[in-house]
This record gives sequence, structure tokens and C-alpha cells, in this order.
Amino acid sequence: MIPVSRVVVGDEEERGVLEVLRSGMLAQGEKVALLEELFASAHQVGHAVAVSNGTVALTAALRARGIGPGDEVITTPFSFNATLNAILETGATARFADIRDDFTVDPDSMAALVNGRTAALLPVHLYGLPADMTAIAALAGRHALTVIEDAAQAHGAVCQGQSVGSFGIGTFSLYGTKNITCGEGGMVTTDDDETARILRLLRNQGMRARYDYEVPGYNWRLTDIQAAIAIPQVQRLKEINAARNANAATLTAGLAGTPGLATPGVPPGRHHAWHQYTVRLTPDCPVSREEFCARLDAAGVGSGIYYPKLMHDYPCYASDPRVIFDDTPFAREIVGQVVSLPVHPGVDDTALSVIINAVKAALRG
Ligand SMILES: Cc1ncc(COP(=O)(O)O)c(C=O)c1O
Repeated sequence: MIPVSRVVVGDEEERGVLEVLRSGMLAQGEKVALLEELFASAHQVGHAVAVSNGTVALTAALRARGIGPGDEVITTPFSFNATLNAILETGATARFADIRDDFTVDPDSMAALVNGRTAALLPVHLYGLPADMTAIAALAGRHALTVIEDAAQAHGAVCQGQSVGSFGIGTFSLYGTKNITCGEGGMVTTDDDETARILRLLRNQGMRARYDYEVPGYNWRLTDIQAAIAIPQVQRLKEINAARNANAATLTAGLAGTPGLATPGVPPGRHHAWHQYTVRLTPDCPVSREEFCARLDAAGVGSGIYYPKLMHDYPCYASDPRVIFDDTPFAREIVGQVVSLPVHPGVDDTALSVIINAVKAALRG
């Protein structure tokens, strides 16, 4: 079976973890500090603040900007529900703009939702493709809004020469399937010294020094054990993303022109991190998505549906007044069409041929 995602960790990660275990200092310490330094440098940003996961990274970014009850945050409806849950955790209200056919949020649709209560724009770099950050940053600039980039899936991605996570506040996940992983983990990036200072306070119970509390805070810390796993991967990030990029290019070339299928496009000036390689089954597709995935499975090719529904379409949000059901017709259409195929660095040339042949065969009526 070719899995849709696979963790690749090696000797360096093992050595790093052993070093921490033998050091007697397992909690946040030198390894976390080194990880932050490397992560900031990899994303060309002044500060990276490690936290316990990507959901906390989003919550921390929103809280660091004082976003809470009464504030509206405009995001995409097409993401992992952590994006929505983090907004709700702060007490803010979520609004949803439509997406484009590259799966990222449409800045014009965001602009139409801006009003006096809007506090932040929260684009998601879905599947590793940067949203149109040039347009989103310009929109934020016109209305003095905070930009929080959900880059949970987009380590190392670039938009118009600028790294994701550097347009506003960036949030990343280091969860078990991500391009960089340590099982669970998160990172917040910012160029603003004061935002970084507040993030560090919030992460550590609000303490500016031991038992000197400036604000009520949390325990959002990462451990040195986790950092030791992530460090070698940040150092290999270019290599990891290049392997994903090469796999994506082979898939796109091999699948081009297949009836019933649309391969993922990359708008000019954007460098995809290819966390997922996601195709769409177009309306002329002769098989249902369920049947397509079952046929791939029978051929030994794993696939995933990210995500089966729009974030706010689950009953648990239906009666929440802080979830505003903006109409997003394109996102609603696309959510029924997407299928992700294996693209991770563990996919070799033989596996790529198997995937391409299996997809074509599965689409034959
Ligand atoms: C788009 C998006 N945002 C946020 C998160 C939350 O990250 P974590 O699982 O590390 O909390 C994820 C994780 O899958 C994600 O894909």
C-alpha cells in the first residue's frame, strides 16, 4: 500500500532525542530555543515562538493581537476545523469568504465581508499552497486589519518571493503528518518584537520572569524532546519540499488531460510546499468519489478527502451565533470534488507510476 502520508525520521532525530533524554532536562530548554532560531531563519522572519500544537499557535496569535468577543475574523470555510475552533476559543466571531479554484481564499470575497467589527483576516495556505498574500496584505493594509496566516500545512512555502508566515503573524503545525513533524507541536512567527514578547508571555503562564506575572497566561510550551525531533527536519526543509515538488510535477505530467480529473494548478509567483497533492473529480467524471477512492485502495494507492465538509457545516456549529453562515458557492461545489493522492518524499518513481496508472484506471467508467 502506498500511504497518503508517511513520517520520515532518521538517525539525527534519534540521536537528538537520546541526547535530551540523557541530559536530564526534558521540558522547554536549549533545543526549543535552537528550533525557534532555525525555524525563524528558514522563514526569513524575526521571531519564531514554539508552542504545543498548531491549534494553540492560532489561538495564541489571535490572543496576542487582543482579538476576542465582538471581533470578526474572516477566514475560508475550506480548512481543517482547527482554524474555526481557534477563532471560537478566543470568543471572536467567524466569517467565511469563498475560495478560488486553487483552493485558497479569494481576497475579493474577503473584501466584501469587511465591516466595522472586522479585526483580522485569516487565510489558510491549504495543502501547502500560499493564499494570494499580496492581495490579502493590501486589503489588510487598507483597513488596518491584523493578518494571521494559517500555515499549518505550508512550511517553507513562498508567495511572490516572500516566505509564508512573514506577511503578518504565521502559525504552523508540527503534527505527525506535516512536512516538518515532531508528533505534536506548533510555531508562531512574527517580525514584530512586541507580538513575539506577548506570545512568549502567554505561552508561559504570563510570566516575564519566574513568578512575575504580567498577564494571565497558559502552559503552551513545547518540550526539548519534541524540538530534538523537529530540528533536523527544519535543517532538511528545502530538501523535503523539493522532493514533494518533484513528485507533484511527475503526477501532474502523468495525469494531464485525464478526462474527469483536474490536477492542482500553482498560480504564478507562488511556491507550493505540497503538503497534499489534491485533484478534483470534475462534473463529467464517470465514477463517484467513493468508488474512485475504493478503486485506488484496491490498487494499493492510499488517498484522503481533505475535507469532507466545509468547516461550519457540522451540526455542532449550527446554533452558535459566533459562526456566521456566509454563502460560499464555489467552496461548496469544490468540497464534494477533492481527493488527495500520495506526494510525500517516501513516494519513489515506481510508486508514482503505480499512482498514475491506478488513477487513470479508476476513472474508466
Ligand atoms: C489548516 C490547519 N490549521 C490548523 C491545524 C492545527 O494543527 P494541530 O493539529 O497541530 O493542532 C491543522 C492541522 O492539521 C491544519 O491542517
